[in-house]
Amino acid sequence: MHGPRDAREPHEPREASGSYVAPGPGEAQAARDPLAALAPRLPSPLQEVADERFSRHGVRLLLKRDDLIHPALPGNKWRKLAPNLRAVAETGHRRLLTFGGAYSNHLRATAAAGRLLGLRTVGVVRGEELADRPLNPSLARCARDGMLLHFVSRSDYRRRGEPAFHEALRARFGDCLVVPEGGSNAAAVRECALLGEELRGHTDVAAVACGTGGTLAGMAAGLSPGQRGIGVAVLKGGFLPGEVRGLQREAFGGARGRWQVEERFHGGGYAKVSGRLAEFAADFAERHALPPLDVVYVGKLLFALVHLAAEGTFREGSTVTAVVTGRAWSPDDAHDDDGE
Ligand SMILES: Cc1ncc(COP(=O)(O)O)c(C=O)c1O
Repeated sequence: MHGPRDAREPHEPREASGSYVAPGPGEAQAARDPLAALAPRLPSPLQEVADERFSRHGVRLLLKRDDLIHPALPGNKWRKLAPNLRAVAETGHRRLLTFGGAYSNHLRATAAAGRLLGLRTVGVVRGEELADRPLNPSLARCARDGMLLHFVSRSDYRRRGEPAFHEALRARFGDCLVVPEGGSNAAAVRECALLGEELRGHTDVAAVACGTGGTLAGMAAGLSPGQRGIGVAVLKGGFLPGEVRGLQREAFGGARGRWQVEERFHGGGYAKVSGRLAEFAADFAERHALPPLDVVYVGKLLFALVHLAAEGTFREGSTVTAVVTGRAWSPDDAHDDDGE
């Protein structure tokens, strides 16, 4: 293990910053739910888009705008972190420790949540060689938000699911709630069931990009029996159906909902973005006046849905909803400073 590195010591617990604190009656609500002060936009909006690549097959396309839930915790970041943040806030003094790569959306969102809620966060980062280099913009953002960064070798990182490794991390960082990479634990999966519930009565198919499978596992559980979930794998390897089944067992005690994983649209693997995919995502955003899309996940999802529609996967007269699970991030993203 490599020594921890931090731009500054993790901050002491403090009040959530002004613009997020709801005044008056909201305070009573905040006392019940420590996250209420962040004022998430829930349920997230459902937006219909007119796109001839769907309408020519008699299919209606909706976007579930989870990217609008919270500026610093967009999409499934909010949904998966919320129950874990609540658990840390309610115990008062624990840190939230989690894992991620050098450009992890999950680490950035966790760090931002720590800043906004006054909670201590530790990010265990894959790649001990990074400890000796200047922080990249994503990790620099984490450090500015008070996250203590701990760089580990790739072989140590592979132990991220092992209880003995967690104990070693606790011995070093004190009492921590350890949240897995991507935030997909049983509590997160149960919270993602609310996404499925928000879609009841609105769609025949609900489609989401899959990394760890946690969002799909929960969403599918929340859909009504006539609806089905489609997960679009952004990694290759064919392991996702097993992961989703395992997460559903952990969260609900068994299989839930109708769902399938589409494995043909990873485009070469995680974070592999071809010029064609980047162009597709930019064009989709422009056609529908959307903010720049997260290409790695949402771009691949929409690309897959266009192909599935062309293949006749969706019956005529049906409605398909694509969950916008995140948004593009750039180092000078003004939203990241919201609430400060
Ligand atoms: C924007 C975005 N969409 C989708 C996913 C995939 O979610 P999951 O890991 O729950 O499959 C992630 C990763 O968490 C993500 O950052």
